[in-house]
Amino acid sequence: MENLVSNRVYVFDTTLRDGEQSPGCSMTLPEKLRMAKHLVELGVDILEAGFPIASEGDFESVRAVSQEYSWVQVAALARSVRGDIERAAKALEKAKRSRIHTFIATSDIHLKYKFNKSRQQILDEAVAGVQLARTYAEDVEFSAEDATRTDPDYLEQVTLSVVAAGARTVNLPDTVGWAVPHEYGQLIARMVKAVGDRAVISVHCHDDLGLAVANSIAAVQAGARQIECTINGIGERAGNASLEEIVCAFKVRKDQLPFETKIVTEHLYPASQCLTSIITFGPQPNKAIVGDNAFAHEAGIHQDGYLKNKATYEIMDPTSVGVPESRLVLGKHSGRHALNQRCGHLGFQLSKDQLDEVYQLFTAVADKKKGVRNDEILHIIHQVTGTPAAAARA
Ligand code: KIV
Ligand code: ZN
Repeated sequence: MENLVSNRVYVFDTTLRDGEQSPGCSMTLPEKLRMAKHLVELGVDILEAGFPIASEGDFESVRAVSQEYSWVQVAALARSVRGDIERAAKALEKAKRSRIHTFIATSDIHLKYKFNKSRQQILDEAVAGVQLARTYAEDVEFSAEDATRTDPDYLEQVTLSVVAAGARTVNLPDTVGWAVPHEYGQLIARMVKAVGDRAVISVHCHDDLGLAVANSIAAVQAGARQIECTINGIGERAGNASLEEIVCAFKVRKDQLPFETKIVTEHLYPASQCLTSIITFGPQPNKAIVGDNAFAHEAGIHQDGYLKNKATYEIMDPTSVGVPESRLVLGKHSGRHALNQRCGHLGFQLSKDQLDEVYQLFTAVADKKKGVRNDEILHIIHQVTGTPAAAARA
């Protein structure tokens, strides 16, 4: 680990574990290997490949990913119980760089309804889990599930105890997406101060209130140096913090967020596309960075500004995140500038009068539809110019 006071943030990808365990996202072993290849190319620091006790398939996936990508740190999840930890250790047996990730819930709600156990019992189990995991792996991470609804004094006690037991990373998940940024930042700052440089404080945010990325960033500003996240933000319920959004926020707003990751951002879109081809759904069209509309412009004022200078309406170059190019979508809000450009791409240099006429007909069509296709634009051009496409292009 690099100096903890540095601004280097470790990216712990859990697409193949927390992401995979959500509806419509389960993956077979070959699919996990296909996705792992993208994650490795992306440069994630830790790749959580599965929860070996959960199924034979998960066990084999952790084993296969850690062998295929032996130079990458591969993590396997385990509850703070012997059987889980031994299974995780077995799955990672041939890994060159392994991490056992043990967890137990620490909030009173979970203690009462899930476990019916006291705080002391849970503390003892957390410590015993880390101690056992350390007999198999040097690198052990502990997660206090539902940390954000845990009594902070007790959370600090658990955190210090697992660090003393040998955990190198303590993850404080916002398991149910309950936190708001300044509150989460305060909690993280307290734990960072308590552990000092004895362990890395990690964050893992769910998106139930749409705050997972904001919470993760607030946590990093407060001193957390590992972020757990997924491609396309997939994960339990509303999902996990989106890897691409956090990484791009750091990259684009370096002035405000001077944090470094090793992510090769040009691989973000290919990784997102690969995931979409494996699971049952893709990102929503207006999803930041990787959604279909993330680099599409429809409004005439925007298109005009974009055509004069891209910086007017784009804060990132699409190719910097692996998206081949921006798109100007022609619809009822589009203007002459973009329409003229499209006519040019279709092989027609129109006079001003012709463009005016094409524009009138185009808006009449666009008013009735969600967007206008190239063949429809061509049809209008032919109507106005009275020339067949081949002749007009010549
Ligand atoms: O959301 C959560 O608390 C988790 C832990 C198992 C890390 O996924
Ligand atoms: Zn989670």
